[in-house]
Amino acid sequence: MDIKDAVRRKYAQAAIRVTEGGRACCAGACGGTSADPVTSDLYERGQVAALPPEAVEASLGCGNPAALAQLRPGDTVLDLGSGGGIDVLLSARRVGPAGKAYGLDMTDEMLALARENQRKAGLENIEFLKGEIENIPLPDNSVDVIISHCVINLSADKDRVFAEAFRVLKAGGRFAVSDIVVRGAVPNEIRRSMELWVGCIAGALEEGDYVRRLAAAGFRGITVEPTRVYDVDDAREFLANHGIDVDAVASLVKEKFMSAFVRAVKPPAEGVNGM
Ligand SMILES: C[S@@+](CC[C@H](N)C(=O)[O-])C[C@H]1O[C@@H](n2cnc3c(N)ncnc32)[C@H](O)[C@@H]1O
Repeated sequence: MDIKDAVRRKYAQAAIRVTEGGRACCAGACGGTSADPVTSDLYERGQVAALPPEAVEASLGCGNPAALAQLRPGDTVLDLGSGGGIDVLLSARRVGPAGKAYGLDMTDEMLALARENQRKAGLENIEFLKGEIENIPLPDNSVDVIISHCVINLSADKDRVFAEAFRVLKAGGRFAVSDIVVRGAVPNEIRRSMELWVGCIAGALEEGDYVRRLAAAGFRGITVEPTRVYDVDDAREFLANHGIDVDAVASLVKEKFMSAFVRAVKPPAEGVNGM
């Protein structure tokens, strides 16, 4: 099974869990006894109060891109890997009836849940598209803002995702995503275990690498702002269950794994090579 199939299966299970009245969870959060330090308390109560509970229960994010991104009335927004649709619903409200919010996801079960959440929320300026973030089914220069919530780390071809994001953004368009980022070098085995704890099959980029790859795709004004830094104690139970001597690796993990808000801009058309 390749990475994409494994990811699709995991998120199909998460969507079914919510559809059957449960809560979505990944890795450590499914087996752990306490609140998930990655996905819990990301949204202000007032922000999600009017959303369908299933949209909130399906949230598997690691930040709050819909709140952190600059969205203006009339904007067209695209959420890469929209899951149960929480950030698409929030963005649709912010861009208003003159704007539009697209959600893109490859998992049928998530799309079904998201469309049902849209129906319950009664929002018409939304369209959920089936597809892959490596092949965005939208025309060139058609989107004002790209958001994404803890999804790019799951892609096995991040350069392709950045190139596609750049292609569909209008000149001057904004890339504003929450993602898992690793700061500095971490031994492979520990990295894999931490990533498995953080998300449903992850492949987080190192911070500097993230910036370099975005720049190579053509983006400018790139910033990476940590929003939550994980402590080894957050993952203690999960790592110990995977046979890792947590105290021995604590110093290697310290302040290395974080959720971050990544911003970048597609430059205006003049003076940009190849545009
Ligand atoms: C961690 S969940 C996040 C969902 C949502 N953004 C949220 O915050 O709750 C990842 C979502 O991305 C989708 N996904 C993962 N990789 C994808 C890809 N390569 N193309 C399209 N969708 C993808 C999954 O189906 C899943 O719904």
